[in-house]
Amino acid sequence: MTETMNNVLNDDKKWKIIQGDCLKVLEGFAPGSFDAVITDPPYASGARTQADKQKSTRQKYSSMGDNAPPAFEGDAKDQRSWTRWAAEWLAEARRIAKPGAPVCMFIDWRQLPAASDALQWAGWIWRGTAVWDKGNSRPQRGRFRQQAEYIVWGSNGDMPISRPVPCLPGVFKYGNPGKRIHLTEKPLQLMRDIVRICEPGGLILDPFAGSGTTVLAGVLEGYRAIGIEVTDVYAILAQERIVRELAEAV
Ligand SMILES: C[S@@+](CC[C@H](N)C(=O)[O-])C[C@H]1O[C@@H](n2cnc3c(N)ncnc32)[C@H](O)[C@@H]1O
Repeated sequence: MTETMNNVLNDDKKWKIIQGDCLKVLEGFAPGSFDAVITDPPYASGARTQADKQKSTRQKYSSMGDNAPPAFEGDAKDQRSWTRWAAEWLAEARRIAKPGAPVCMFIDWRQLPAASDALQWAGWIWRGTAVWDKGNSRPQRGRFRQQAEYIVWGSNGDMPISRPVPCLPGVFKYGNPGKRIHLTEKPLQLMRDIVRICEPGGLILDPFAGSGTTVLAGVLEGYRAIGIEVTDVYAILAQERIVRELAEAV
């Protein structure tokens, strides 16, 4: 199993989307396989009551009705279960990350404390929280706008300052993508900025690939990348999207 998973890329194949549950798929990689883990897991934060949490992600995250992108799996956990689960996949991701490799995990304000707890329980060193300023959000009288999401980041042990990676910003300002094929798709340019935390030419892991934005951004920036996606329809959409957009980029 280990050899099979580590051989999914070669000189001609710079990226791969694997359909499956990341907790199972990650088991198949050998220790020290990845130069960075950059990901956007389901936040499971889009409802107040337990009953509302069980609703489809289309209902929770879109007002587009029948025109909304497809629903995705894994978003119904309460905060305690989510934190435990996040610590599990983060520990497995750390096992297969190289010493010193960075980890970046997107999250919103509700799950921010849980995310930094899970990262540390999994053994990563928590090094900071960068900000994605989305600009737009619902204005509410007498309240601050929730116009940001966050990137909790850290490293697998010591992260030498001598790594060949330049100074990076801590705030990224990009609006949500106009034409989305995923309910919670991240802007491509945002991900092109974020992947630069990886050493040049390195291998990036995204255990929650969605529509493949991290993998596409990584390849466009000269990295190799492997994405894992459990929802069948998104694994197919990600594959097709990356092929299409890489062909257009040539
Ligand atoms: C927040 S979305 C990622 C969106 C992505 N960043 C993009 O730009 O399209 C999280 C994705 O994780 C997937 N997912 C949920 N649980 C998973 C699991 N156990 N293993 C792999 N993928 C999972 C969901 O199907 C969903 O597409």
